[in-house]
Amino acid sequence: MTERYAVIGNPVDHSRSPEIQSAFARATRQDIEYGRLLAPRDGFAETVRRFRSEGGRGANVTVPFKEQAFRLADSLSVRAQAAQAVNTLRFDASGIFGDNTDGAGLVADLKCNLGISLAGRRILLLGAGGAARGVLHPLLAEHPAALMLVNRTPEKARALAAAVSPLLRAGAFDDLRGERFDVVVNATAASLAGEAPRLPADIFVSGALAYDMMYAANDTPFMAWARAHGAAQIVDGLGMLVEQAAESFFLWRGVRPETAPVLAMLRNAR
Ligand code: ATR
Repeated sequence: MTERYAVIGNPVDHSRSPEIQSAFARATRQDIEYGRLLAPRDGFAETVRRFRSEGGRGANVTVPFKEQAFRLADSLSVRAQAAQAVNTLRFDASGIFGDNTDGAGLVADLKCNLGISLAGRRILLLGAGGAARGVLHPLLAEHPAALMLVNRTPEKARALAAAVSPLLRAGAFDDLRGERFDVVVNATAASLAGEAPRLPADIFVSGALAYDMMYAANDTPFMAWARAHGAAQIVDGLGMLVEQAAESFFLWRGVRPETAPVLAMLRNAR
């Protein structure tokens, strides 16, 4: 019998998750149906409840519901507890299990798809919202030489860093003067406003990677800025999207799909 899954968000029209999950299901011969569910801003829990009562087996959760999903879950993975945000729900007899696969998705894209080793590298993470929180622990677990967190509102970055590890440095964009990094990850929503975070012009070491967790058909403002300021490799978040989806699929189905063909399909489709 076909088992049902969905991505829940608001807005959710733009989500590429149905395309990705359907491709995984075809490749692994899993009999699932995966759709989009638009939840009213004040109706996330009700949307989950209804989907579950209609036979839904699990869901991905996207903007702006990841914190609400964290609160709704009856039990949580360690990485969801660390992130205090949930992007994957699994429904079973014992209730709603919440996980967060975003950080694993970013690290898998960096390591497996891009061949970047993070151990001993200097990493800069921009932003202190849910997107940054989801990837902080998995990045730290790769043993970088340094991991610095900066945010437009520096108090938020400092509070987040203090809650995670005394090894983390945190501050404002102005605190970056004189600092240089191997890997710069943009986890801010600045691109939505058509802006790039205000970074010093010499932020990249030679050979550095600039990574935007957003994806778009063309360069985001951060990617364009990085291109003009000496980053050697400039990447959007499509690979992270596919990798986090594979991790969710594994949680639901116990099967790990191949990601490379699906990533290639998405890149060709745009
Ligand atoms: P998400 O869950 O996607 O991270 P969020 O919690 O609203 O969304 O966080 C958005 C992040 O993008 C924040 O770090 C925000 O900075 P503030 O904490 O100062 O608000 C950052 N951000 C949004 N617009 C930005 C801009 N134009 N320039 C720089 N940072 C921006």
